[in-house]
Amino acid sequence: MRAQCASLVVVCSLVAWTTVGCTGSEGTEEPGGSSGAGGAGDGESTLRQEYSAYFPIGAAVDSGSYGSHADLLTAHFSSITTENEMKFESLQRSEGRFTYATADQIVEFASANDLLVRGHALVWHRQNPPWLFSDGQGGDVSADVLLERMQAHISNVVTHFKGKVYAWDVVNEAIMNDGALRTAEEEAADQQSKWYAILGDAYIAEAFRTAHEADPDAKLFYNDYYNYLPEKQRGIYDMLSRLLDEDVPVHGVGLQCHLSIEPSADDSHPSYYQTVENLESAVELYSSLGLEVQVTELDVSLYVGGVIYDEASFYTSVTFTEDLQHRQADRYREFFEMFRAHRDVITGVTFWGIADDNTWLSEFSSGRTDFPLLFDTDYQPKPAYDAVIDF
Ligand code: XIL
Repeated sequence: MRAQCASLVVVCSLVAWTTVGCTGSEGTEEPGGSSGAGGAGDGESTLRQEYSAYFPIGAAVDSGSYGSHADLLTAHFSSITTENEMKFESLQRSEGRFTYATADQIVEFASANDLLVRGHALVWHRQNPPWLFSDGQGGDVSADVLLERMQAHISNVVTHFKGKVYAWDVVNEAIMNDGALRTAEEEAADQQSKWYAILGDAYIAEAFRTAHEADPDAKLFYNDYYNYLPEKQRGIYDMLSRLLDEDVPVHGVGLQCHLSIEPSADDSHPSYYQTVENLESAVELYSSLGLEVQVTELDVSLYVGGVIYDEASFYTSVTFTEDLQHRQADRYREFFEMFRAHRDVITGVTFWGIADDNTWLSEFSSGRTDFPLLFDTDYQPKPAYDAVIDF
């Protein structure tokens, strides 16, 4: 059914895409109060309550899901991240015209429901509008102009959400798997960074400085994936340590944590290294710099890295068997044990979605569906939920 693959196709392309104590308002009451579509039933505890002494539990939301999943969201979560609505292309599709309406609605929902908001993401090599890197004549814009554009964007956005967004992913995915900076020379076109091509590594420090100037109270994060890779975590550590030496205002590191149900068996695949121990070493390394750590984009895919799945082997709600559900639950359990053990430095854990009906991992053009979250497609808790809440 499955074939091993050396050249990483479907499985890897998507994967390669790849606070502050508590909300202070946690009581023993049911925050959501509803027992309907996914809210907590009477007397049942919720994730939000169970983790109130540990860290805020977050979920990524989009322009539709915060409304359609409102019961689940307000019952179980204490923080949200906008999945796409605060990215560069969403907020400044054409130069100088900022479009905040959608993000503002989500932020209003958050403040009405006592949810923290993480802002994601100010500077990234993906999801940028075409004008950003262009001189308008078919060439790249000059370094001076790009720096101005970046500063103008960050200042406008961070000022707009000042006091409402408590933490920002300022720079996203600037380091490659081997620990080197992401450049314009990466083999795959969608891996190349125009920021680096035009500005060199200076864009990183400048992005943090500009965000800090706009909102000195916001917590500023460097966010990346595959932190369990020894070389990558060392590269991230070295970069952060240089930034801190230069007094750049960086406050934390985001670990994306798009995990799989088990590590890859193929030692040439990055997820071969996807173990609790390796991720824990990243938590320890980064926090040794005095930085806080947040898990920013957690999900546990059923698909294993380095394996090619043909259409017939895509999981469905039928082939997502009880055995698999429990294996997924065990995977969640072991990572959460480690997260809780580091609650002194881990200040937030955010899932990349709310329930299995709405996950980026099911957005493959191939139609491959995945079931990576704690709640199922009917918004009901899965064994993975029990594994996270029972401790
Ligand atoms: C993803 C969103 O979930 C998708 O809806 C979108 O099409 C692409 O981006 N790392 C990140 C996130 O930092 O911004 C990505 O979000 C997932 C990988």
